[in-house]
Amino acid sequence: MIVYHEPSRTYTLHTKHTTYQLAVHPTGVVQHVYYGPRLRDCDLTGLLRYADRGFSPNPEEAGADRTFSLDTTPQEYSTCGVGDFRLPSIEFELPCGSRTADLRYARGEIRRGKYALEGLPAFYGGEEEWETLSLVLRDDAAQAEVELLYGVLEEYDLITRSVLVRNVGEGPVRLCRCASLCLDLPRSDLDMVTFNGAHLMERCPSRAPLRPGIQSAGSVRGASSHQHNPFVILCDREANEDYGLCYGAMLLYSGNFQAAVETGQFENARLVMGVNPYHFTWTLEPGGVFSAPEAALVCSEAGLGEMSRRFHRAIRDRLVRDHLRGRRKPVLVNNWEATYFDFDPEKLLAIAREAAALGVELFVLDDGWFGKRDDDNSGLGDWQVNTDKLPGGLEALAPTINGLGLSFGLWVEPEMVSEDSDLYRAHPDWALRVPGRAPARGRNQLVLDFSRREVRDHIYAQLHRVLSSAPVTYVKWDMNRSLSGVWSAALPPQRQGEVYHRCVLGVYEMLERLRTDFPEILVEGCCGGGGRFDGGMLYYTPQIWCSDNTDAMDRLRIQYGTSFCYPVCTMGAHVSVVPNEQNGRVTPLETRGIAAMSGAFGYELDLSKCTPEEKACICRQIETYKARWELLQLGDYYRLTDPFREGPYTAWAQVSPDRREALVSVVFGGARAVSPFRVLKLKGLDPGARYQVDGAGCWGGDALMHAGFPLPAVKGDYQAVQLHLTAVDDQLPPCNCVLIESGSINI
Ligand code: DGJ
Repeated sequence: MIVYHEPSRTYTLHTKHTTYQLAVHPTGVVQHVYYGPRLRDCDLTGLLRYADRGFSPNPEEAGADRTFSLDTTPQEYSTCGVGDFRLPSIEFELPCGSRTADLRYARGEIRRGKYALEGLPAFYGGEEEWETLSLVLRDDAAQAEVELLYGVLEEYDLITRSVLVRNVGEGPVRLCRCASLCLDLPRSDLDMVTFNGAHLMERCPSRAPLRPGIQSAGSVRGASSHQHNPFVILCDREANEDYGLCYGAMLLYSGNFQAAVETGQFENARLVMGVNPYHFTWTLEPGGVFSAPEAALVCSEAGLGEMSRRFHRAIRDRLVRDHLRGRRKPVLVNNWEATYFDFDPEKLLAIAREAAALGVELFVLDDGWFGKRDDDNSGLGDWQVNTDKLPGGLEALAPTINGLGLSFGLWVEPEMVSEDSDLYRAHPDWALRVPGRAPARGRNQLVLDFSRREVRDHIYAQLHRVLSSAPVTYVKWDMNRSLSGVWSAALPPQRQGEVYHRCVLGVYEMLERLRTDFPEILVEGCCGGGGRFDGGMLYYTPQIWCSDNTDAMDRLRIQYGTSFCYPVCTMGAHVSVVPNEQNGRVTPLETRGIAAMSGAFGYELDLSKCTPEEKACICRQIETYKARWELLQLGDYYRLTDPFREGPYTAWAQVSPDRREALVSVVFGGARAVSPFRVLKLKGLDPGARYQVDGAGCWGGDALMHAGFPLPAVKGDYQAVQLHLTAVDDQLPPCNCVLIESGSINI
């Protein structure tokens, strides 16, 4: 619900559990007033304080009042060069050369439904569930209108933000910075959590108290990156999974981004998030509009766990566009770690045959099926089947796979080109490359200039042909290097600052075309694993390969970090061989299955080489997954331990929304001879219900949460158990905290 209160000129945005208020100051500056737990309708402008502060200038409209300064008042969208010295959200380059921005309120509108952003990913939904607040601000000197957009998805506790910049003048308008979100908080005693890492170890949480100055996470790699994620949290210093005020902010963007927090001089904090200003400029012709990517905010007064669950529900139901929504996705086998580039139809069919017998439902042919590609030095850009390797092409292979009872999926990497390819030989200028500089190669490949329509059209036509030639139901869209030498032969020098962003828009446009032309294809995003795991990609690709690291123990950490924002059903996760290909670790097959099941589940190994015992285990895993997928994929997710704390085990649980069923997964670390008796306290259960724990009797929900469940003693490294809980009757007598029956389980 959005309410405008005329006397105080406040706009108040209510979600089920939160309230956000902003006010229009008599000067026309739009101030931020409050964001936190839900309040009744009220005017909170009394929270805004004014004082004459040294070295904080006063805008002209303040007249003789020296207590109003842009430098000190909290704002909805910060400007620059006109008296606010904190992080700017927007910056114009005026025709005179000045790089400033100054915004004043012009008009506001509350309307039903959600605003639209052309060519960009965004949360969606029906007219009845969304409301939009549009505030139009003007910068007369820049001849521009800046429209701040707020989407309120009340039931999901989600507030989205975006910004449209419109040229309302006669000449061009040049933007040098345009953030999606500015959040001014009246306190700086907060922790900032960012999600950092590297290829093979993505999204490791890093938490630190805000300190004076600017702290930030961001990417200039052309993709959101393995190194930093466009999701950050600001929270109470003492906030934990179950307690404390937390703000989560995600940017739905897959390119260069920046999320920066500045702690101000008066113990306040400003978060600004959006497209990274590095090498960004945008020229708007008269009437032209620039749309900043969407950002989304969740505030939770009940700790990090509840913040994550609010994001999970919203992303699952209102961001991901999945033709399989509400249905189980097929269990897949991917041939990459099984064969790499070295395959022929016999090898592939041997894997597929075994897969079908074990209950797998989809066979995915990874890299190496096209062009002249027997290693990663050639062939990208030539999206025709290599019939030397696959005689008869996909037209022969896919139906044969179908005949085994499996659907067929295919890997592609459309944004890239190998210098050793027909495409590059014909169009060397289609690769991004700075004139006069030698290009830097990554995986011995270059990046195509997706800002150019003819480049995209050419690649898309090839993909369309391939995907129409065979019954393909799944595509893995990969991207295996960071962008460098970003320069487009199609744009003049003064517009080169648009190329990074135009390339991202080009990827989105291609993915949208793919979705429109092949609505029944499930697209999995990938960027050397998790180098582009962001809300932008999730709008087009309902799942993303979480990491190229398939080791179960490392995956626990990666999936844990990823879960702070993104739901389990979006995280591609596969069981692979041991010793693990990335780190050499040996973990039990059961453990690998339990880790991968809390993701979009599949296998990535040569199933034809498995022993009978391994095959029996895989069969059981697939049966369990099929029986419990709804709980695993759609249940409320509870992190029970932190795998980065080197504790004796890592545990998490999925609980059905009605709390009648739960699945608890526990993975132990290295073996110990004399292990203490350990209990695991569960979360999210109904304290008044009685739960049947598979193989371990009946337990009260209150007992399981407050006294805990006795974990079995295990022998051997990296063992795992899964506990399935079902509520067996409605209510226990009040205050019951007696264990009905105790037990432990054998594994
Ligand atoms: C990187 C991906 O993450 C892998 O799974 C695999 O598809 C390779 N690329 C293929 O080149």
